[in-house]
Formats: sequence, structure tokens, C-alpha cells
Amino acid sequence: MSNKPDLLTTGPLMPFMDEDLGAAFALHRLPKEGRDAFLATVGSRVRAVATAGGAPVNGELLAKLPKLEIVANFGVGYDSVDAKAAAARGVVVTNTPDVLTDEVADLAVALLLATVRELPQADRYLRAGKWRERPFRFSTTLRDRTIGVLGLGRIGRAIARRLEPFGRPIVYHSRNPVPGVPWKHYPDLIAMARDADVLIVIAPGGPATKNIVNRAVLEALGPNGILINVARGSLVDEPALIEALRDKKILAAGLDVFADEPRVPQALIEMDNVVLLPHVGSATHLTRRAMGQLVIDNLKSWIAGKGPLTPVPETPWPRRK
Ligand code: NAP
Ligand code: 8YV
Repeated sequence: MSNKPDLLTTGPLMPFMDEDLGAAFALHRLPKEGRDAFLATVGSRVRAVATAGGAPVNGELLAKLPKLEIVANFGVGYDSVDAKAAAARGVVVTNTPDVLTDEVADLAVALLLATVRELPQADRYLRAGKWRERPFRFSTTLRDRTIGVLGLGRIGRAIARRLEPFGRPIVYHSRNPVPGVPWKHYPDLIAMARDADVLIVIAPGGPATKNIVNRAVLEALGPNGILINVARGSLVDEPALIEALRDKKILAAGLDVFADEPRVPQALIEMDNVVLLPHVGSATHLTRRAMGQLVIDNLKSWIAGKGPLTPVPETPWPRRK
């Protein structure tokens, strides 16, 4: 047995992460089959977990890792980690904030413009040789729209700042108003949806936001409304969205995230008024590497006795007394 600390990964990591972490830790990959037998062998030694979504790090898994000290999540969103259960066991959870903010905000603006101006549809039209028959249809525009942002955190603010030069009114909804920003705060999401023509969703997943964009919000957004979701699929009631798109209760949607990834409902795939992306908000070489490095740095800092670098709010560091 090695004297390196034992690190469990819940799914594949980027190769450079395996290489770097492998030098400092004894790595164990959670298998898809035979997990109980596997955990019965190594579970009692594991001091750290690295996770990139995949298998949830829930109370059941935590209970099988009695010596666990830290869970390092690859991603700023850590809805697949039960951070409250971890806190109750004295386990620190870290995520990867800031290093992906600009990348995801760029993608959100690109997805908004692609959806409003129907760019993938126009591309498909050209490739199908239809331009030679007649010009592509006129699209809708950003020029007459009020943009509502659901979640004005790190990424929400970066999106709003990018959209300011577009010269359209920007408003936002979050539970608390954000001091020092020029945009109007709506304490009520439905009221904001009523006043906006675009709803950009960029709040965390998890029980508090499950289906927060429901039928009533979509109806308030209205027949000219466009939904952009770059947060988590769980924030949007997907069957209600499909119905709203089909029944023209809203105009269009641009979606980077889905309720049951990587499965995307066939109904969405068959619709022409949606732009669909395979959860690529942060997926560039540069940003994914920075995220991976932050996971490594959190784990190494912890094992060196220097504490976590980016703990989540549920597991603050230094610990609250
Ligand atoms: P953040 O800085 O923590 O901001 C979260 C924002 O959401 C805050 O404004 C917060 O304000 C608001 N919020 C939280 N709970 C809410 C609720 N119940 N109702 C309304 N608003 C709520 O997070 P971030 O770094 O901007 O990241 C946001 C999320 O984006 C992540 O959690 C992740 O799921 C997603 N994401 C997706 C991708 C992608 O690839 N598509 C990439 C990165 C991140 P209040 O606390 O005042 O409500
Ligand atoms: C990643 C993300 O795609 O950071 C997040 O919350 O959704 C993305 O950056 C994801 O975390 C990869 O596992």
C-alpha cells in the first residue's frame, strides 16, 4: 500500500489532472458496476474526492467514506454534491468559481444572438442549398427587447456587463438585490418575466431553484419571449417549456443545459425554434484547464494542511465555531 493519501474520483478527469494528482495521491476511480464491493475495500481509506458531475456525491456515498475530509468539484455549480450533508460530517467542499466566468458569459451572449437571429437555422438553410432558391426568412431582433437575467451572481453580472453596449434595458431577479449595479431588481420572477422579452437563466441548480422557470413564468414571458438557459436543466420545467414552444406561448429558446443530460427530449430536437448546445458553457481548452488546475490546487493545498482555496458557502473556511 502506498503512503500517499487516497483520492477517489467519481468519473473521468482530464488526463493532465490524472497525471498531476497521481503523483501526489493514490488514485481510485469509482466503478459504474460493483460500487459497494469496491467501496468496501477502499472506502475506509479515502481522504479526498474529486468529482466532475457524473455520480452524485450524496449522503449515501459520504456514509461509505468515513475518513473523507474534502470533496473538490470540477465546476462552479456543485448541485451534484450534497454540500449540507458534507458540512454535517465536517467535510469541506470546493468548487471552481471565477476561472470560468468570462467564458460562460461569452457563450451566453453567443447563444442569445444565435437564438434571436436564428444563426444555426440560417446555416442549415445555406448548406441545404436553399439560398439559391430564395433568401432566408427575416429573423426576430434584439433591438426591441428588454433582457431579464435570473441570477445576478458572478456569471450573471458578466453577462449583463457584456449586454450593456447592446443598448437594451437590462433587469434582473435574485432573492437579494445586488448593491451598486445599475440594473432594476425584481424581487418577483413572474413580474420580471412579464416586463422582459428575453429571460437568461444563470442561477445555481438544486432544490431551491428546481423548476423555478415554470409554466406561469413562461406564460408571463409571453408569445414574443425568448428563454436562454446556461445554468442547469433543473431550473426549467422542461415539459412545460416544450409545451410553451409548441403552443407558441413563447417564441424560441436557446439551451446549453437539460434536465437529464446527455439525453435531450426528441420534441426539442425536432423543433426549429430552438438552438441546442451540449453543455459547452465552459468547454474551451483554456478554461477547462484552469478549472482542472483549481481542483488540483484545492486538493494539494488541503493535503499540505493549508486549507481549501475555494470552499463553497455551506462549508466555510476557516470553519465557523
Ligand atoms: P453565483 O455567483 O453563486 O451566483 C448565483 C446567483 O443566483 C446569485 O445572484 C444568487 O442571488 C442567485 N440565486 C441563487 N439562488 C436563487 C434562487 N433560489 N432564486 C433566485 N436567484 C437565486 O454563481 P455563478 O458563478 O454565477 O454560477 C451560476 C450557475 O451557473 C452555477 O451554479 C452553475 O450551475 C451554472 N453554470 C453553468 C455552466 C455551463 O456550462 N452552462 C458553466 C458554469 C456555471 P441570491 O442569493 O441573492 O438569490
Ligand atoms: C462544466 C458547469 O461543464 O461549472 C459548471 O457549473 O456547468 C461547467 O463549467 C461542468 O461543471 C463540468 O463537469
